[in-house]
Amino acid sequence: MKKTIIMAAAALALAACCSQPKFDGPTYLNPNAPVEERVEDALVRMTLEEKVGMTTAQSKFSSRGVPRLGIPEVWHTDGPHGIRPEVLWDEWDQAGWTNDSCTAFPALINLAATWDKEMSLLYGRSIGEEARYRKKDILLGPGINICRTPLNGRNFEYMGEDPYLAGQMVVPYVKGVQENGVAACVKHYAVNNQEFQRTQSNSVVDDRTLYEIYLPAFKAAVQEGNAWAIMGSYNLYNGQFNCHNKKLLVDILKGEWGFDGVVVSDWGGCRDDEEAVLNGLDIEMGTWTNGLTGAASDGYRNYHMADPYLEGLRSGKYTTKELDDKVRRILRTIFRTSMRPEPNYGRFVCPEHYQAARDISAAGVVLLKNDNNTLPLNVPEGGKILLVGENVVKKMVVGGGSSNLKTAYEVNPLEGIRNAYGDKAEVVWARGYVGDTSTSYNAVDTGQDLTDNRSPEVLIAEAVEAAKDADYVIFVGGLNKSAHQDNESTDRLQITLPYGQEKVIEALAEVAKNLVVVNISGSAVAMPWADKVGAIVQGWYGGTETGNALADVLTGKVNPSGRLPFSVPFCYEDGPIKTERQYPGIKEEGDEYWQTHYDEGVYVGYRWYDTKEIPVQFPFGHGLSYTTFEYSNAKAAKPSMTAAGTLKVSVDVANTGDRDGSEIVQLYIADPEASIDRPAKELKGFEKVFLKAGEKKTVTFEIDAENLSWFNAEKHEWTAEPGEFKALFARSAGDVQAEASFELK
Ligand code: BGC
Repeated sequence: MKKTIIMAAAALALAACCSQPKFDGPTYLNPNAPVEERVEDALVRMTLEEKVGMTTAQSKFSSRGVPRLGIPEVWHTDGPHGIRPEVLWDEWDQAGWTNDSCTAFPALINLAATWDKEMSLLYGRSIGEEARYRKKDILLGPGINICRTPLNGRNFEYMGEDPYLAGQMVVPYVKGVQENGVAACVKHYAVNNQEFQRTQSNSVVDDRTLYEIYLPAFKAAVQEGNAWAIMGSYNLYNGQFNCHNKKLLVDILKGEWGFDGVVVSDWGGCRDDEEAVLNGLDIEMGTWTNGLTGAASDGYRNYHMADPYLEGLRSGKYTTKELDDKVRRILRTIFRTSMRPEPNYGRFVCPEHYQAARDISAAGVVLLKNDNNTLPLNVPEGGKILLVGENVVKKMVVGGGSSNLKTAYEVNPLEGIRNAYGDKAEVVWARGYVGDTSTSYNAVDTGQDLTDNRSPEVLIAEAVEAAKDADYVIFVGGLNKSAHQDNESTDRLQITLPYGQEKVIEALAEVAKNLVVVNISGSAVAMPWADKVGAIVQGWYGGTETGNALADVLTGKVNPSGRLPFSVPFCYEDGPIKTERQYPGIKEEGDEYWQTHYDEGVYVGYRWYDTKEIPVQFPFGHGLSYTTFEYSNAKAAKPSMTAAGTLKVSVDVANTGDRDGSEIVQLYIADPEASIDRPAKELKGFEKVFLKAGEKKTVTFEIDAENLSWFNAEKHEWTAEPGEFKALFARSAGDVQAEASFELK
């Protein structure tokens, strides 16, 4: 009996020591208490001043915590492609730390071009780890604004022209980042589709277009990705600035979508005291209160939501209703990030991240054209490869605006090709043209000297001479990250290649045995020279490993599976934007702001080209492989479905070539019996399928009413109309391989 009692007592003691120790501090500090309890407990302890203190910046990239209560500051960082170097407290320039050179991941347009959700998760996880290691709580990205015009300078930071593609690709990124206890701040919400007059332009958009084209990716980020933060954009929408736009933030984001996270202003995007308080903004960052031109030094107390807010509260102009909502959201963010229950520490500049950057970048490289199997390179032992173009050597992680990074290293295409061939081939470079010789941004410098004062004629003659005995000539050009290229705060001036590159390509085409053109850009470039060259590759700003990733595809180490996330038209005029009113907008006498009318409605990108039957150079979704695929046996599992049900549609895809490879199987839905004008077809599914040579797989998609719907603005609801629909299985928007019809009852 005595023995039993002793054993029972020992068991109890063991259980007590192994269960959670009793936490006897305040609830908000208890890591195991539910987040909402921690929030409420912290809130009641705070003074009015402490609450208001949390709603504005205290430095370029941080906002205040509650020092008295041990609640940490919130550290924000750009951006979508890597962790921005530390900047000075109140200036944009980097601070000169020596421990902050990051892994530069590929630009988001490169990620979108993978059409691969696993790559997006890998990206999110990896950049999230880098952010966590650098002790950042809010990562200012990803950007998911729709590519409405190829001239938008920031397309490279976004995910292309289709809301479904962007929505599917943003969700895993957000989840991957947030697994690390770092909030993804999805930007720039919303209808922010140009850089021209970005802080002075009003996007005039009808509701159907807003809901069908410009909101779905944000909605997916919030509802499927559970994003913890959203950044308001600089522009106005229907007459109100977006950082405090009632309809976008209060009605839609926090109302219809139930967003419980924090709304952060773009840097300087908050423009009005009262609207900021009342219309859903939670943290005001970077507002230069002297009118967006520059900051009064350390002027943070002047911010709209700093002293003016406090005064308004004290004088009774505002109640604490909005303030408590803002502070709850900020506290929630802190308990999800820096004060999360299970701390982790991330990792930084590690081999795994370099490999991820390389794999993602290579998976997004798009083989646009490949006559007579020009690619992959098949260089004879001791053969000669000539690389031509500024982008062969120019380091492009530096530049472009807020996504500018200081990276641990950057492999350019010349180094990438040399790494691939070692001494097995002679790899030489000719400049070909001089584009942009700048090498620094915000005090980050690549250390290159790109000056070259030779004339275009001399440069072309040199390249042509070197091309004559080359087994392959690879021209690597396109855009760069300077003003009026792929760059924040300016738009492109033309859709064609700048710096006289077309002349160089045409001259090389006359003499080269095998000519490959690699275009590096963040949006479509017109290619009137396309017929003259053997192969065309769409490359991207691939980050740290960009040159190796490109070489992986050119040499065939990686069989290309990237697909265009935007349409490449023959010329700008073929596109949906026809008037100045549409783009860049107009400012008439008496107007305070530029007015940009989205008159093309839902006809953006392929929705326009397809419906109007306008041929393009390369359609949305296009991309070749070094193997071939065949589609067959398209079918719907049942002849009909109901609005409450779902329907499986499938197609068989076979690799009919002699190499293993991945195919991106795309599902578009057509609604031929719609009672309103609808695009000829819309992307509603895609899957990346790996097939060994000779292998065949069945690819199945599940369709629900949402995939069939359009937004009825009058009734403010999504409508799926009964009737016949078509499931189109396609290699791109321009290459439908098989179809199956079904009915919605
Ligand atoms: C950009 C944002 C960026 C912020 C902070 C703004 O100019 O529009 O995308 O996150 O600056 O650098």
